[in-house]
Amino acid sequence: MFETLDPLPPDPILGVSAAFRRDTSPLKVDLGVGVYRDESGNTPVPAAVREAERLLIGAQTSKSYVGPAGNVDFNERIIDLALGPLAQALADRTATIQTVGGCGALRLGAELLKVSRPEAVVHVSDPTWANHEPLIGSSGLRLQRYPYFDAARRDLAFEAMLEYCGRLPAGAVLLLHACCHNPTGADPTAEQWQAIAEVVERRGLVPFVDLAYQGFGDDLETDVAGLRALAQRVPELLVAVSCSKNFGLYRERTGALAVISSDATARAAVATHQARLARRMYSMPPDHGAAVAARVLGNAALRQAWQEEVATMVARMKSLRALLAARLAARLPGHDFGWLTRQRGMFSLLGLAEADIARLRDQHHVYVPPDGRMNVAGISDANVDYVADAVAALLA
Ligand SMILES: Cc1ncc(COP(=O)(O)O)c(C=O)c1O
Repeated sequence: MFETLDPLPPDPILGVSAAFRRDTSPLKVDLGVGVYRDESGNTPVPAAVREAERLLIGAQTSKSYVGPAGNVDFNERIIDLALGPLAQALADRTATIQTVGGCGALRLGAELLKVSRPEAVVHVSDPTWANHEPLIGSSGLRLQRYPYFDAARRDLAFEAMLEYCGRLPAGAVLLLHACCHNPTGADPTAEQWQAIAEVVERRGLVPFVDLAYQGFGDDLETDVAGLRALAQRVPELLVAVSCSKNFGLYRERTGALAVISSDATARAAVATHQARLARRMYSMPPDHGAAVAARVLGNAALRQAWQEEVATMVARMKSLRALLAARLAARLPGHDFGWLTRQRGMFSLLGLAEADIARLRDQHHVYVPPDGRMNVAGISDANVDYVADAVAALLA
């Protein structure tokens, strides 16, 4: 059976981590994989999450099955966090299912679209996160790319994006990053989100919003303003939520897919399809992460502590952006590094050619994926000068 298979090339992002681990240089810096890191390079479990875990383990009396939709309390709380007061207003049109991380939500959403409208085309940003096309394309849906990033200006190609969306047929699916666009860090402004919502409504498009970094751009509310602008206006919307980054629950595989339908009857049908799709693929999601996140969100003191920890993480990423921009500007006077502080979240594109990315790795032991996506959270006071020297040498 399996001798017919040829080995596949490494995953573009996970392959970078493997190469980093093999490198024996003491100088090596990992700016590859998309995890938050503190000053000492750790990816911490927030204290509020730890405490919720302690309470949960103490109180747990059974590990019986939870069902395909997962933890209903989690589902309600997580969509509440995303939609705020709108969650209540849209409750009779929203069907939420717990998923195996944000990836599971994206895949389940794609499968639901495939069942509902097999010929639907999903339009993804150019560029987009390396796993979007495999995750969504594996459902059999067709994918196309819309203009998103102007590499020369290192900013959103907003006019081109809007113009593209204005030509899409009704029923086209538009995959949008709610905030902290991966890999560019370039997000629409509040006004631009309004314009996107207007064209989505006018053309009858179906937004599929990937919410993987709520709280990592500015704060838990500001980061979902675009999502809420859309949810307020359109009859149908999908949102894929990940708790990997903001709750630090990466390996617990915690997420949700919420689907807003045009009415309660459609909502009820969607819920049955979500459950059947889950049942056919993996039956039920894991419990632990969702139970922990639900505890954090449902306990006022833990929630407050968690919000403060998220705020500390975002403040660190913003200060690292400013630090790196200043260190690069000191090495390359006359170059503009304002994009580093304008962009949001963990990622920015270095804007280097693939050959330079290879030199960064082979000569300087600084690791980023082939597209030059840098994880800002991998920078620290200890390595910022080293990274700035290496990057400046290639940008000069
Ligand atoms: C843009 C984007 N969407 C979704 C995810 C899904 O994350 P997870 O499956 O770990 O929840 C990630 C993780 O890196 C991401 O960067």
